[in-house]
Amino acid sequence: MEDAFGHRISYLRVSITDRCNERCRYCMPEEEQAWFPKDEVLTYDEMLRVLRVGAGLGIRKVRVTGGEPLTRPGVADFCAQISAIPGIEEIGISTNGTLLSKQENGVTMAERLVKAGVRSANVSLDSLDRAAYQRSTSRDLLPKVMEGIDAAIAAGFRSIRLNCVLMKNQTEREFVPLMNYAWEKGLLLRFIELMPVSTQEVLSEDNFLATGTAKQLIEQHTGPLIPLPDFKTNGPANYYAVPGTEQKIGFIGAMTNLHFCETCNKLRLTSDGKLRPCLGSWLEFDLRNVLRSGCTDDELASFILGVVERKPKEHDFRDNYLPNRRMIAIGG
Ligand code: GTP
Ligand code: 5AD
Ligand code: SF4
Repeated sequence: MEDAFGHRISYLRVSITDRCNERCRYCMPEEEQAWFPKDEVLTYDEMLRVLRVGAGLGIRKVRVTGGEPLTRPGVADFCAQISAIPGIEEIGISTNGTLLSKQENGVTMAERLVKAGVRSANVSLDSLDRAAYQRSTSRDLLPKVMEGIDAAIAAGFRSIRLNCVLMKNQTEREFVPLMNYAWEKGLLLRFIELMPVSTQEVLSEDNFLATGTAKQLIEQHTGPLIPLPDFKTNGPANYYAVPGTEQKIGFIGAMTNLHFCETCNKLRLTSDGKLRPCLGSWLEFDLRNVLRSGCTDDELASFILGVVERKPKEHDFRDNYLPNRRMIAIGG
């Protein structure tokens, strides 16, 4: 599948719920509790059908997101069913990590996911300081996340990446502890620019820390980082090697990297069944309605191809974008 600008679409992010057990300031405010009503959320079977048809059109990589995907019952079985779809080569999950160590009959969630064929887990981790973590997520769950990361390591994911959203006057003091922690645990750490897909309160310039600035600040500790243009994870991060060590770190510069969208390979399915061709554009298309009106697989395929045709060249974030959805309802 290719769009009008030559983007090859092979990556579908599926948000399976808008619910979350945390309240990250940049994702959703504490007071906002309006979850989608149950009947508006796609069933797993509906999502699997979209994935099957998508795989027929060239989707090879799937990332399961939320809200917090591990809050939805049955997520591991759902992933196992995705694994069985011919054509799907890679399944990842993006999680806040708080539920990865949760056990059912002596088996952790992380183990169940690995058994279901999930190969990568991206875990949000903005701080290693318990009080700071609590301030940024409104929950005192850092110990659970640490446990979750250890459970993920023990379960044997092929890759575990840590995602840290850059916040000015906060993240600066986390660089060294996070890098040391990632190195110690053998995990890939990425720093992400704050995107205005959130709530007004954090959209201010005062909170924005560019990846370029973050890189310079990190280099004060490490010396010049070495670009690794050939190291890719099939997602939007640019990676660098830390001199004198084997450590790699990544930067996701959605706001300041003018070439960010050139290599975009993805579509997003929201939990309420909207197909979004771009995170940073108002465009979205009601797939749920098509699914529930009894369409054939061919009609579904045409619908998906129609959305791909309308995928924008790049996001609108730089043009005073006002979000029509919160991040929690898109899944990152
Ligand atoms: P991998 O490279 O497979 O690890 O996945 P990923 O980086 O695409 O996934 P993840 O869920 O960890 O997302 C990390 C950050 O990148 C989140 O803040 C996402 O919102 C952001 N991101 C991912 N894809 C896009 C994109 O197409 N556009 C923009 N603007 N941001 C993206
Ligand atoms: N800007 C950038 N990244 C965000 N995430 C959530 N909200 C935002 C935002 N406004 C990140 C989370 C998670 C990933 C899926 O998206 O930290 O790691
Ligand atoms: Fe929950 Fe993730 Fe949003 Fe934080 S960023 S509130 S953990 S969905």
